[in-house]
Amino acid sequence: MFLMAKLDDGQIRFNQERFDLAALGRQIIHEASLQTGGKRLDFELSCVEEVACFCGDRFYLQQAVENIVANAIRHSNDNGKIGISITVEKGMYHFAVSDTGSGIELQDLPHIFEPYYTKKQAGFHTTGLGLAISREIVRRLGGTITVASRPGEGAAFTLLLPPS
Ligand SMILES: Nc1ncnc2c1ncn2[C@@H]1O[C@H](COP(=O)(O)OP(=O)(O)O)[C@@H](O)[C@H]1O
Ligand SMILES: [Mg+2]
Repeated sequence: MFLMAKLDDGQIRFNQERFDLAALGRQIIHEASLQTGGKRLDFELSCVEEVACFCGDRFYLQQAVENIVANAIRHSNDNGKIGISITVEKGMYHFAVSDTGSGIELQDLPHIFEPYYTKKQAGFHTTGLGLAISREIVRRLGGTITVASRPGEGAAFTLLLPPS
């Protein structure tokens, strides 16, 4: 919870560094593929060429995306697919993470970004803070985060990030 509070009151300084979003996407997928908890998952990265000069805090953006990917892994079944897609539209970067897992119930959708909102799952450690932290990080980066999901059909989270 400390991280949440510190992000919130601006105690944490964000770097302004130029880096390649595609390289970050590759790194996240590589690390995630080593942490599937034994599930067979298919990871896929798709991106355009212009993502090389994103400007912002690489470490915190990675944290934000990793929380989302960890959820995607947890809610996937064997042979599920997890995709990261990075595009640029109208000058905004779209960093999307999609999965083919259990999806999110309609009544949960408005609440999943709230701190401590969690659906307990047997055998898993849940805090309900992952998405709250991701949203706060994205807010600090000047962006927004949205989710689209249908129960049984997976979920897609999109980070909409400004160029700098
Ligand atoms: N990819 C996903 N598929 C299905 N449900 C999800 C997904 N991502 C998040 N959720 C739902 O949102 C809730 C909140 O997520 P999060 O803030 O990361 O907390 P936690 O993972 O600790 O439960 C989860 O408990 C789960 O019910
Ligand atoms: Mg989580």
